[in-house]
Amino acid sequence: MDPSGMIDPEIRDLLSARKGKEAYSDASDASALRMSLNENMLVDRSFSSTMLIEAARAVDPRAYPRPKGALALKAIAEKYDLWEDQIAVGNGSDELLELIMKVFVGRGEALTVEPTFEMYSFYIGLMRGKASPVYLRDDFSLDADAVLSRVGDETKAIIICSPNNPTGRQFAKDEVLKIVEDADRLVVVDEAYADFAPYSLVDEAVKYQNLLVLRTFSKAYGLAGLRIGYCVGDHELIEWIRAAQSPFSVNAIAQEQARRVLSNKEIYDIFVRKVVEERGYLMAELEMINGVQPFHSDANFILFRIIDAKKNSSDVARALRDKGIEIRDRGGLPMLENCLRVTVSTRENNQKFVRALREIVEGD
Ligand SMILES: Cc1ncc(COP(=O)(O)O)c(C=O)c1O
Repeated sequence: MDPSGMIDPEIRDLLSARKGKEAYSDASDASALRMSLNENMLVDRSFSSTMLIEAARAVDPRAYPRPKGALALKAIAEKYDLWEDQIAVGNGSDELLELIMKVFVGRGEALTVEPTFEMYSFYIGLMRGKASPVYLRDDFSLDADAVLSRVGDETKAIIICSPNNPTGRQFAKDEVLKIVEDADRLVVVDEAYADFAPYSLVDEAVKYQNLLVLRTFSKAYGLAGLRIGYCVGDHELIEWIRAAQSPFSVNAIAQEQARRVLSNKEIYDIFVRKVVEERGYLMAELEMINGVQPFHSDANFILFRIIDAKKNSSDVARALRDKGIEIRDRGGLPMLENCLRVTVSTRENNQKFVRALREIVEGD
């Protein structure tokens, strides 16, 4: 029997496009300098590892973890002055995104504000729902009226990423809140990168009954490898998400480490400030390269466009790979022709990247 005949036809196309291809390729050279996944290499490795060893010692690997991230959840509630029932903790914010699509969107429609993080439309499709794109303005700002005009009977949710991946901008707070107030629909604001930006909507999330704000420990706190994130909102919304969650998806070490990280938040704030400083350095360097146009960023990455007609973004990504540097070619996304996204890293790595890019772009 042909196994492909066993696949639900409703998701066959969606999965075929990804089958056999890792979206986040693991095949790349392990020795390459990875500036493609928005990890945070400015978190001090030995500080984090020492804490991780203590976290591992505190864990009995024979026992299941606290259900639904209960240990981390308590620490998040204390740190941010929230009630525990206003928070759901997940195996990365990715798990929460998938649960949100499952619980609130299902076979309905969700609006995504494009170009944006591709996992939104993927999870919506996986739930047999319909992802409908609404586009940003040419300067990558959010047009609340454009979004509101697209809300229809089938629309179950509006997904907004702010600061937006991959454009980098944090949207104006009043534009986002206008959507929350006028859409009469669930609004999900993914704030994976808000620690690097001027503001967060976490305080607003508990004031509205239709706003969910997603946060992660992967970026500012450098815990991408442990998989832990959370979602803040009205307790009723949160209860439904938690009802759909499998009990032990958040492992015990991730919970312990998240708790420790929060109790050392002042130190992590220093790491975040370093990222912001390095972002300024990288931006200034990119502005000085002929043929490169960088865009303003409130995140830990910078989007830039190649404006030299002789090379396109995939040529540049390939040439960088040949020099041992991985960045993300975003040229295939709408509005982002010839654009690439680079993660802010240490000064040494940023310099290495800038040198290589300059050679490639200005070289001939
Ligand atoms: C916008 C956005 N949301 C969510 C995630 C996933 O984060 P996590 O590691 O918490 O699953 C990413 C990761 O790159 C992201 O860019």
